[in-house]
Amino acid sequence: MNKTPLPREDLDVLEGYHSPQLDVPVRLNTNEAPFPLPNSFIQELESEIKKLDLNRYPSRSASELCASIADKELLKESEVFVANGSNEIIQSICLAYGGNERSALVFEPTYAMHSKIAKVAGTRVIEGFRDEEFQIDKDTALEIINREKPEIVFLCSPNNPTGNIESPELIDAILSELNSTGGLLVLDEAYKEFSESSSDLTVNEESNLAFIRTFSKVWSLAGIRLGYLLAPEWCINMMQAVSLPYHLDSVKQKAGVLALKHDKEIIRKVTELKEERRRVFEALTSMSVRVWPSEANFLLFKPETIDAYKLWEGLLEEGVLVRDCSTWEGLKGCLRVTIGSKSENNSFLTAVRKIVK
Ligand SMILES: Cc1ncc(COP(=O)(O)O)c(C=O)c1O
Repeated sequence: MNKTPLPREDLDVLEGYHSPQLDVPVRLNTNEAPFPLPNSFIQELESEIKKLDLNRYPSRSASELCASIADKELLKESEVFVANGSNEIIQSICLAYGGNERSALVFEPTYAMHSKIAKVAGTRVIEGFRDEEFQIDKDTALEIINREKPEIVFLCSPNNPTGNIESPELIDAILSELNSTGGLLVLDEAYKEFSESSSDLTVNEESNLAFIRTFSKVWSLAGIRLGYLLAPEWCINMMQAVSLPYHLDSVKQKAGVLALKHDKEIIRKVTELKEERRRVFEALTSMSVRVWPSEANFLLFKPETIDAYKLWEGLLEEGVLVRDCSTWEGLKGCLRVTIGSKSENNSFLTAVRKIVK
């Protein structure tokens, strides 16, 4: 009998993460933008694709795209790295700075892929925890960093799935600690555009700080798989060192350049989404549902009169898919809903109202 190869024993970490992709009328489970791309963008992309030499490998450094991003972010091209979604950025960071006998610190509950990708890259994950309002205690965080000296610390602001931002005081304190221990602070800002808060933090060669951004959320380009890292040159050089040759295809590079050119038309709906977030928040609050304030394009909520999984199932029967977080550590009984279009949000609210009564 054939003996099949045994996979690494530690790879069971991948079980049970992914959100089901179900074919239902209202999909509010993965924080995508509900709006299609403007016609002007699609038409220009079509004509640019026709001009591409697809028989040739793409630009290995994706220089046109990196230069466009650098322009928008007021940085140098050498401070930008692009990849197939920000998940690939997280992977590259873990490949470069994590690995054997190295560690990454996360504060749960947070974006699950930080710790999953770190583990797949053979990195030990240290878990810190947030309080009941999902805040990180600064002294505890500094104590863990001092004790464990992690090579990577992930912070997510606004945090997925809780929606709150990390305070500037916390970020400053963690950064100055890491600047002396030699760890890298990775600030995942996938939902930055939905936040009211602004920060004066930026890339600096002397500071161990890197920012993750994505085209998947406010840019309506989840299907393209494009994310980027803003970081000091020494960090970007390492991202290039661990990435596969020609990892970013020519179509995607062009789509990113064009999206930045059409930025105003593509991200114009952010005000509408924020207004819808306020409306859905208020509607849920009036329905025996606890809901947390959010600076992202989703809301975390907890039904008070019905089991969360029952509500999730009931919503699905009504054709509305939300994210079930009810069994995740620190999120007992919670669900997460993406803010969709007005009519999607209405379907969601009508269904919740019907089920929780
Ligand atoms: C906080 C955070 N970071 C990164 C990602 C990954 O985004 P993508 O790989 O689509 O860029 C997500 C996706 O939901 C996210 O919530």
